[in-house]
Amino acid sequence: MAQTIDKEQVKNAIIRAFQFRHACKKFDPDKKISDEDFNFILETAHLSPSSFGLEPWKFVVVQNKDLRKRLEGPAWGAVEKLRTASHFVLVLSRKANSLDARSAHVQHMLKDIQKMPADVVAKMTDAIGNFEKNDFGLTGNDRVFFEWGCRQDYLAVANMMTAAAEIGIDSCPMEGFDKEKVEQLLKDAGVIKGDDYGIACMVAFGYRAREPRAKTRQPIQDVVEWIN
Ligand SMILES: Cc1cc2nc3c(=O)[nH]c(=O)nc-3n(C[C@H](O)[C@H](O)[C@H](O)COP(=O)(O)O)c2cc1C
Repeated sequence: MAQTIDKEQVKNAIIRAFQFRHACKKFDPDKKISDEDFNFILETAHLSPSSFGLEPWKFVVVQNKDLRKRLEGPAWGAVEKLRTASHFVLVLSRKANSLDARSAHVQHMLKDIQKMPADVVAKMTDAIGNFEKNDFGLTGNDRVFFEWGCRQDYLAVANMMTAAAEIGIDSCPMEGFDKEKVEQLLKDAGVIKGDDYGIACMVAFGYRAREPRAKTRQPIQDVVEWIN
């Protein structure tokens, strides 16, 4: 019985967090997230799942005022957040050249991070290569390859936003920017070095400046279909 009550409490707390989370348009510029809380949010990104465990992401926390100001130009959907968010994260994703099965990154993940013995590395390299080329048709299409990594980045972003909401922190995910211009700016600023990463999206964190409008969603039966 005690377990049932705990589960109900947990479910209620999770739904409350999902209702609390909204795309926060303007943050209170005077309220800062503590280091401890922000590290907790980052850890949920760190622990997120990725295809073959290749972790295609990089999370760049931009606290530098000058860089935030420069991002306002090409990131039209992020202006108010760049100005007011406590923490502003650029979510980078690896490009084809560093997600290819034989790339230095993939080999590093298999050998050094996942600690596979050499014969397993060879088998996994073939399996990943086959998946990339034949199953998902990524090989030879750089943009599709990049978007494969971005899809995984978005899982980490969702986890960060949910975790933040669980502890009363607001967030906003953003795609309102000119991708090429932002990438050029980040290269010029030395944030993107070489050609391994592009930008997937941005996500801001902080505390709301005002209450949001009521949520709008299609009825659940319009988006869920059961085949019994
Ligand atoms: C991939 C993605 C990109 C988004 N881009 C922006 C953006 O650039 N600027 C912004 O203010 N909101 C942005 N949003 C927020 C959405 O407009 C918002 O999530 C949606 O209207 C639903 O509202 P809610 O999140 O408050 O429930 C984005 C959301 C997602 C998931």
